[in-house]
Amino acid sequence: MCLLLLYLLSTAMASAAHLLPGFYSKTCPQAEFIVRDVMSKSMVREPRSAASVMRLQFHDCFVNGCDASLLLDDTPTMLGEKLSLSNINSLRSYEVIDEIKEALEKVCPEVVSCADIIIMASRDAVALSGGPNWKVKLGRKDSLTASQEDSNNIMPSPRANASALIDLFSKFNLSVEDLVALSGSHSIGKGRCFSIVFRLYNQSGTGRPDPAIEPKYREKLDKLCPLKGDGNVTGDLDATPQMFDNQYFKDLVSGRGFLNSDETLFTYGGTRSLVKKFSKDQSSFFKAFVEGMIKMGDLQSGRRGEIRRNCRVVNSRPAMDVFSES
Ligand code: HEM
Repeated sequence: MCLLLLYLLSTAMASAAHLLPGFYSKTCPQAEFIVRDVMSKSMVREPRSAASVMRLQFHDCFVNGCDASLLLDDTPTMLGEKLSLSNINSLRSYEVIDEIKEALEKVCPEVVSCADIIIMASRDAVALSGGPNWKVKLGRKDSLTASQEDSNNIMPSPRANASALIDLFSKFNLSVEDLVALSGSHSIGKGRCFSIVFRLYNQSGTGRPDPAIEPKYREKLDKLCPLKGDGNVTGDLDATPQMFDNQYFKDLVSGRGFLNSDETLFTYGGTRSLVKKFSKDQSSFFKAFVEGMIKMGDLQSGRRGEIRRNCRVVNSRPAMDVFSES
């Protein structure tokens, strides 16, 4: 299992030299405007879609690189990533990506990859929520396949502690600072009771709550997520769940982190000073966050790809072509 993980990770580290800012400036000059326009309309309909779309970048890029493998629906011969442990009943807003793709296909068919749409839409989700804006590198291809098993083996659990997260991120060339800054994405959005009941009632098998949770906040979470209650009820990941800001880090300092994987960044000595720094200095958080997103966006599998016409399915191929590939 460990060797498999190392192999999967090594394939995700191939270089991303061909990615460029403004990659579509000649072939689809309106691409970035269209993505931002659809993203902002989606946020008017449902503000949470910003968080849900932005999370897609993390779950796509960590599993065999940023190649939109995440978006493929299951087929009779392929179990995709949508139903993996971390994604099932949890990832959402796939329809926003579909809407962006449809709008792009009308203007420049078969030019803009679904993998690049995820990267642009994630950036726009952050910028439109009050966070930083930045130039993204583009030119990714979409995968020809997806793997539920790889997603299960790689994506971290909400129970993870800081040292496990540091190890995982380091395998992707992401530093401790990248880990802490990227976790600041939990400045927007929601999580399910399913992801926190263990820390409310049985942290590390003790039969007791996580002592790091501030008592008033714990009362609130206990009400929201009673033992044996509905695991699909959701709570805010920080006190300002629609604003991309450094409130998340302020909350961690006061013991009000929602997930165990959040609060552990403050209780663990190796990450505490970064949490404190970001809680006091929003611009240093924004700067580190942008660097982390760009580094994460550089992850590539090195495998062959295509520009999908529909983000949910690989393009159909003439029978001869399929035959010669096997
Ligand atoms: C450091 C390791 C991380 C862990 C263990 C983790 C885990 C989780 C969990 C458990 C949830 C709630 C899911 C649910 O209960 O259904 C969540 C939500 C979310 N995560 Fe993470 N996450 C991590 C890092 C990241 C990163 C790097 C990003 C993006 C850059 C990200 C973006 C988000 C967003 C925006 C949400 C809210 C989504 C929504 O409201 O639909 N997370 N994460």
